[in-house]
Amino acid sequence: MSWDLRGRRVLVAGAGDVGVAAGLLLHAAGATVFGARRTTAAVPPPLQPVAVDLLAPDAFAALPPDLDALVWAVAPHIHDPEAYRRSYTEGPARLAAALLGRGDALQRVVLVASTSVYGHQRGEVVDEQTSPQPSSFAGEAILAGERALAALPVRTTSLRFAGIYGPGRTWLIERVRRGHAAPPTAARFGNRIHRDDGAAAIAHVLTLDDPAPCYVVVDDDPADLREVYAWLAARLGVPLPPASDDDATTRRGGNKRCDNRLLRATGWRPRYPSYRDGYAAMLG
Ligand SMILES: NC(=O)c1ccc[n+]([C@@H]2O[C@H](COP(=O)([O-])OP(=O)(O)OC[C@H]3O[C@@H](n4cnc5c(N)ncnc54)[C@H](OP(=O)(O)O)[C@@H]3O)[C@@H](O)[C@H]2O)c1
Repeated sequence: MSWDLRGRRVLVAGAGDVGVAAGLLLHAAGATVFGARRTTAAVPPPLQPVAVDLLAPDAFAALPPDLDALVWAVAPHIHDPEAYRRSYTEGPARLAAALLGRGDALQRVVLVASTSVYGHQRGEVVDEQTSPQPSSFAGEAILAGERALAALPVRTTSLRFAGIYGPGRTWLIERVRRGHAAPPTAARFGNRIHRDDGAAAIAHVLTLDDPAPCYVVVDDDPADLREVYAWLAARLGVPLPPASDDDATTRRGGNKRCDNRLLRATGWRPRYPSYRDGYAAMLG
């Protein structure tokens, strides 16, 4: 049995890169999809645009009625604790509570979260059973947001996305191309998910009859960054700079191996199981 999306009314709160990609898949599965964000010019048909500041006190009057499901994929434009608290800790639960409060038959909430809830640094394998140890305000805000949603009387699933790459997200390619990506001096694992596989995970989880409260959304290959940088450099025909551990960008993701077996057990499969597949498609 699955949760049939046909005729469902789904609000994608934060209809940006991932939100729109997921929204299009949800529409293709038969749902009516509303794409909410402050600037709606980039919300493509058949998604129905809703121009709203979802973090504003009076945000909800503008929202369409009778919603069955909510996908929260808002990303703050500034990287600071207050913006993260509002976007992740307060925002999702406040919206879901308002929809329940006005009487919507809201049955599903999906939070697009992050593996930043895991601050592990020694290459540990982490999954949904691993106790989160956030080492950043971002991870803490997201974890608090998961807990605030889980306290509401509605079926909520948190999707802990690894670093997203894919079309238009070429920052690592450009760093390697310019010789700015110093490989670490020792094994350091990085985790990623192709945008399209992440969007597919959102749509997939909304079809599950009995979704888990949380899934790690990552490809099948939490690879050593030395290997990833070397592969990209070879592909681009450029040399790598000498190894260094001073590179803040390389250290940002921690050092852990995210495990997607629970999500795979529900039938989801990444089209890009490894960075090789995703980057090869991007580099053509
Ligand atoms: N980037 C990564 O590697 C990564 C890793 C893990 C998890 N994630 C999570 O993945 C999710 C989707 O990310 P993305 O890459 O799709 O981000 P994105 O393209 O920046 O989309 C985020 C959307 O949120 C909207 N938004 C921001 N503030 C808003 C507000 N106050 N009211 C209404 N809408 C608002 C933005 O539109 P307006 O500015 O027009 O309002 C934008 O469309 C985010 O939750 C992000 O944290 C990302």
